[in-house]
Amino acid sequence: MAANLQIIIEDDPMGLAHRGARIFATSARESVNRNGRFAVALSGGSTPKRMNEMLGEETSRLKIPWDKVYLFWVDERCVPENDEASNYGAAKRAFLESVPIPEEQIYPMPGEVSPEAGALRYQENIRDFFHLTETGKPIFDAIFLGVGKDGHTASLFPGQKALEERERLVVAVKGGEPNVPRLTLTYPVLNRARHIVFLASGKSKAEILKTILESKEMRLPAQKIQPVNGKLTWLLDQDAASLLPEEMARVVSAG
Ligand code: 6PG
Repeated sequence: MAANLQIIIEDDPMGLAHRGARIFATSARESVNRNGRFAVALSGGSTPKRMNEMLGEETSRLKIPWDKVYLFWVDERCVPENDEASNYGAAKRAFLESVPIPEEQIYPMPGEVSPEAGALRYQENIRDFFHLTETGKPIFDAIFLGVGKDGHTASLFPGQKALEERERLVVAVKGGEPNVPRLTLTYPVLNRARHIVFLASGKSKAEILKTILESKEMRLPAQKIQPVNGKLTWLLDQDAASLLPEEMARVVSAG
């Protein structure tokens, strides 16, 4: 197993959510101590829901320096914020309305304009925030990802052109469930993060996780997540890890 790869297995989805929230908090404090801010990008989907809720419910215990947190999204469905498919809308409902993060430090992906225009606008947002040149690439302190049963991550779906993108930071795609137009960060952004944390929960992810973590062929989108300099953590629960060989996982006791 690569030196920068860590697999943590929690007993159940609740344990996974707790651990995910603690990783967020620790990463935030370390980033703020190191460079005065925490630039993080979150994914959508159902897996991170409970973790996100804990970011709100346990914010004082987690000691998250919200005044120094800059929140971005990994991907977004191009729907209105109040649509249940909206990743930003889900985060807002889960924790954003109950934590003291300054409004101007929250960067939702623009789902209300055309996908192409939204991708260009978000790319400019990222360039402005990280003070990048036309060819510069951002380094997020942390990026939280999920994985689909088909091995997709972010909104990078198998067989799509977006997987080959090496210059643009954000692209417009269509696919996934729901099968709608989406915006997604690209590999040049995702793979430069200082810490990439995958969350995967439940038996339905066991098969794809076995393929992703065991297969030598790097053909699935989630397998192409290979940090340039950062750390890669797979945070799983027992059900999701149930097909992994014993020696692959450092089982973390809950709590
Ligand atoms: C999205 C997500 C996507 C998600 C996976 C897993 O917007 O759909 O970013 O990449 O992480 O599809 O989704 P679940 O957590 O719902 O299984």
